Amino acid sequence: MPRATSPSRRTAPSRWRRRPRRTARAAAPGAAASRWRSPRRSRSTRAAKAWKARQAQWAALLEIQRSGKAPAVGVSNYGRHHLEEIAAAGLEMPAVNQIELNPWSQKPDLIAHMRDQGIFPMAYSSLAPLSTWRVEPGQDSAKTADTKRDDAVFSAMATKYGTTEAQLLLRWGIQKGYAVLPKSLNVAQMQQNLALAGFAIDAGDMAVLEGLDRGFGVAWSVGDPVGMK
Ligand SMILES: NC(=O)c1ccc[n+]([C@@H]2O[C@H](COP(=O)([O-])OP(=O)(O)OC[C@H]3O[C@@H](n4cnc5c(N)ncnc54)[C@H](OP(=O)(O)O)[C@@H]3O)[C@@H](O)[C@H]2O)c1
Repeated sequence: MPRATSPSRRTAPSRWRRRPRRTARAAAPGAAASRWRSPRRSRSTRAAKAWKARQAQWAALLEIQRSGKAPAVGVSNYGRHHLEEIAAAGLEMPAVNQIELNPWSQKPDLIAHMRDQGIFPMAYSSLAPLSTWRVEPGQDSAKTADTKRDDAVFSAMATKYGTTEAQLLLRWGIQKGYAVLPKSLNVAQMQQNLALAGFAIDAGDMAVLEGLDRGFGVAWSVGDPVGMK
């Protein structure tokens, strides 16, 4: 009884014939054949390695906490997928996640997930929207000329409340329930950053500030790390 077979290579129409495999050398001229990996595969291998490292680091931090050397431990720049990795590994969740948070970078989904998991948000680069922020040579960020277009909103609100724009931005973080950690080398500005209790941004202005979210942080010139694998 004849068996149903696929057409032989010799008789198959040319469109069925297998293309010759790309060799490692052909795909990456000059590279050693054994070292070549497809970009897709090396991306997932890198991601798996990165997760392994994160898991080991997090387990070590939990161990430090268990030993009594730290009352609480946390993470920084963790996106939802990073936090879900911890949950999937059955490890205790962090007490805090330090991320870029300011009216330009509000991360509402991540914040909601953190709240669900009992993870406290700590805001860095709260002052990133200031036009004077990281403008000195050597201070890099992902800020562009375009990212300055809301400055008028902050200055108008600061005038309304009789504060500086920096105070307005820090007060926004506090009213959102975040820990804020402004950095300053200037004593007058340090004092300003501590004097946030004398005013409150009203609900209408909080709604206006809510509308300024651009969906990503600018502190890192390479992109907001919460989105990285
Ligand atoms: N986990 C992370 O990936 C990460 C990333 C970035 C930052 N951080 C941490 O977050 C903290 C703050 O971060 P940051 O430096 O990015 O941002 P920041 O505190 O939002 O901004 C600091 C800059 O704002 C200026 N400034 C401070 N107070 C001011 C005021 N009242 N008026 C006008 N300008 C004022 C400072 O200049 P003067 O010194 O002249 O006052 C400095 O140039 C640091 O402790 C940093 O280590 C963490």
